Amino acid sequence: MRQTIRPARRLSGAIALPGDKSISHRYAMLASLAEGDSKISNYSTGADCHSTLACVRALGIEVEEEGTTVTIHSRGMRGWKQPEQDLDAGNSGSTIRMMSGLLAAQPFTSRIKGDESLSRRPMDRIMKPLAQMGAKIEARDNRFPPLVIHGGPLHPIDYTLPVPSAQVKTCVLFAGLFAEGETRVREAVRSRDHTEIALREFGASIKSLPSRDHSHPSRDESLPSRDESLTSRDESLTSRDREGAVNVISLEGPAKLTGRELTVPSDLSSAAFFLVAGLLVPESHLVIQNVGLNPTRSALLDFLLSIGAPVAVPRIESVNGELIGDIEVRHASVRGGVIEKDLTAALIDELPVLAVLGAASEKGLVIRDAQELRIKETDRIATVAANFERMGIRVEVTPAGMHIPGKQKFHAAAFDSFGDHRIAMAFAIAALHADGESTIDNAEAASVSFPEFWNILSSLT
Ligand code: S3P
Repeated sequence: MRQTIRPARRLSGAIALPGDKSISHRYAMLASLAEGDSKISNYSTGADCHSTLACVRALGIEVEEEGTTVTIHSRGMRGWKQPEQDLDAGNSGSTIRMMSGLLAAQPFTSRIKGDESLSRRPMDRIMKPLAQMGAKIEARDNRFPPLVIHGGPLHPIDYTLPVPSAQVKTCVLFAGLFAEGETRVREAVRSRDHTEIALREFGASIKSLPSRDHSHPSRDESLPSRDESLTSRDESLTSRDREGAVNVISLEGPAKLTGRELTVPSDLSSAAFFLVAGLLVPESHLVIQNVGLNPTRSALLDFLLSIGAPVAVPRIESVNGELIGDIEVRHASVRGGVIEKDLTAALIDELPVLAVLGAASEKGLVIRDAQELRIKETDRIATVAANFERMGIRVEVTPAGMHIPGKQKFHAAAFDSFGDHRIAMAFAIAALHADGESTIDNAEAASVSFPEFWNILSSLT
């Protein structure tokens, strides 16, 4: 599908976005192992989260969908049945990596595959800790999907994440749900904590340990409340344990989960496209409603504020342990800056659209430490640079980032999504700021996380 985008004169109005992709995956997977029914409202409409539902169904769990409300009827931790066919994770790294932790503990063998893009993404990052827990997994070239997972009894481990990855953290904790005893995951960079919050909501025994001293289990603390975690973030960033971890999560298995009613906040990573659009297009004023503002995700807002963006959060509340609020943005020019180290990890999904903003900013944008971008749905350093070149934007590409000079003129261009949802949407936003009509090929890729994107965009312009 080819989309045509004309430059916008003004964007205004209030918009509602689909449910958060990360949270939807986690709620569906955990609900499928709970005792009793779970009702999930505002479940993501994206194809990725429907790949997760398809896997859950293939494991013998009844799933009803009514609009964006998903009801999952499950039979507890041992309620899955061996699937008759391959499980298909589609384009979704979260589905394959997180489901693998659960499949590794089942009393059956399963095979999970993905599309062409997913088949090129590394799975050794989950295979290694799962093998330490006793799992037997085969992969193409010992690294890539499809995975053949010979499920069986697992034992708990104490695992330090070698890369900042919430998917790997989740995979280990999900496997730990079935292991007898304490599973610990240590992370040197605090990644999104939706898994910890969701596990607590479903009734699992999970704690966040103070990172200075883990040798005295009696000094364990419960996970901080949302408000506490907001204030403790700076401190936790500086206090590391022997292994260099700022965050240590402890889960007691085997777990028993209880079915629940849950509401998914709207996706801040989807909101990012409209935040940047509002900043770029003159006279814009947008309100984005009910967006997830979990502190491990909202570095986006802190970063935008730090470069002079007029972004405000007029309303905020806590729902199922997650913060939800409205975000308001107005057109303004922004300074630009540097994204590196922990901030890069915190903004990983937003970097393509922030790169677009960087090219329009006053001083430009430098992105460092973003080697993980090279192994997303596409090599996002390469695909951003390819589209920049088409629109005449100068960029210096480095192995783990890019240097984008500011105050550049956006020329209309024929873009390609290269099959990557976030590239499709990032360059649709760039096209709003261009000097003529642009096109985006393979625009249907946006449906992976945000099928409503094109309709919402055209309703605003
Ligand atoms: C996700 C974690 C991130 C992110 C992805 C969703 C999650 O991936 O890029 O879109 O839901 O846990 P990594 O764990 O590979 O960093």
